[in-house]
Amino acid sequence: MSAQPSGGPDRKFAPPVLDSAVAAGSPLTLWLAVVLVVVLFSGGLFGYDQGVISGALTGIKSTFALSPLIVEVVTSWVTLGALLGALAGGELADGIGRKRTVLIAGALFTLGAAVQAFAPDTAVLVTGRLVIGAGVGVAAVAAPLYAAELAPASWRGRFVSAYQLAITIGIFLAYLVDGWLSSSADWRSMLGAAAIPGVLLFAVALVAPESPRWLMKMKRRDQAAAQLRKIAPAHDIDVELDSIAAALSVESRRASWGEVFHAEWRRPLMVGLGLAIFQQITGINAIIYYADQIFGAAGFATEASRTTVTTWAIGGVNVLATLIAIAFIDRLGRRKLLLAGLIGMAASLIVVGGAFQFIKVGAPSAASAGPSVAGVVTLFGLVAFIISFAFSLGPVVWTVINEIFPGRIRGRAVAICTAVNWGSAFLVSQFFLSLVNAIGSSATFLLFAAFSVVGWVWVYVYVPETKGQSLEQIQGIWKGLGK
Ligand code: BGC
Repeated sequence: MSAQPSGGPDRKFAPPVLDSAVAAGSPLTLWLAVVLVVVLFSGGLFGYDQGVISGALTGIKSTFALSPLIVEVVTSWVTLGALLGALAGGELADGIGRKRTVLIAGALFTLGAAVQAFAPDTAVLVTGRLVIGAGVGVAAVAAPLYAAELAPASWRGRFVSAYQLAITIGIFLAYLVDGWLSSSADWRSMLGAAAIPGVLLFAVALVAPESPRWLMKMKRRDQAAAQLRKIAPAHDIDVELDSIAAALSVESRRASWGEVFHAEWRRPLMVGLGLAIFQQITGINAIIYYADQIFGAAGFATEASRTTVTTWAIGGVNVLATLIAIAFIDRLGRRKLLLAGLIGMAASLIVVGGAFQFIKVGAPSAASAGPSVAGVVTLFGLVAFIISFAFSLGPVVWTVINEIFPGRIRGRAVAICTAVNWGSAFLVSQFFLSLVNAIGSSATFLLFAAFSVVGWVWVYVYVPETKGQSLEQIQGIWKGLGK
């Protein structure tokens, strides 16, 4: 339902767990900049590891002579690792702290990249994909949580949106690296390059501050005071720590896994899970992962032409359109962006599905004559799709998932939604090529279009507007809507 209450401070993206502890208008201190770097590297690595496979597949296929099923496994098992990593990430972040969890993510990124780069066979390569996927999943839960807890209120929205922007920049950089190395099809360097930012993330996280809120939860007030002094030197440390302690006592103990599924939270959980699923089953990662192959089928015959369109039309456009969302999400609201984006996604997917009716995959003329009219239409359709996704479902889904749950269940509920998002990404990337083989490219894109239409209706009916409301007001919406 479109609940549109007014008033209340604008909470933008994240769970305002430190609301009373952080004043508006804080300066960006050196330590906050360190936090931002951790967030940017986590998001960037997430994006790089998602995007890089698109250009690496050609080389991998020629080294290992892969069957279509193994191509799908190599592509998609990073998402399977991410699903498991997301579930573990919530537990780790609560158990050993936010900072150490990010350190683990950095270590997994580095290890996974090295295993992939030196893989002697497909089994080791797939293991490397799983390890790096686990890093992605752990980071996907820990980094936004870390950003949300360490950024002062006046910076929080920008910190969490910087995370999504970093994902798109990571994908873009992956495409660029793929492009540079495409002539030699050097897939080992493409995949191994992620070790460098992985080591950097680890190094920055080593010196980064721990979340004072987590330290308070662990009853380590002295350490919390030391960290807070670093992050917000101008603040009255004791007053802030007292208010964190007060917030923690109101939240009481953390809910168990079972309680997360209690009838009381059914409505927000349904909204979070639904958004997580629709973000994926409308096809974004089929395009991010298989862009190179889709453009190949659309008649972009040379490797160079494919990497150019993938890099700029998909990767570059994705970054730019994400900036649109950051500019408008708090002004227009979540619902408007979601509904407009889903219309754009459905329309552009219908165009792509229609164009593929006229594309004969593997036709001899395709290799010599370059893209046909239908191929160019496909290109424009995919660009329109990426724009529509990037200003709507891309950032808005993570925004809403992070703001709809009450503090007591937030960590676990966000972990569940993140895991379901990755599970859906896994299914799409695992079965995309099989689906194309079974029903054809045209019908596959039309199926994504149909999911976008269903998604539109679902958002219209179930997702309330949460723009400009405090978490308490958002909790009030659920009460007003009943179970
Ligand atoms: C999604 C990813 C996707 C990325 C594309 C994110 O919001 O969760 O699955 O690859 O956007 O920019």
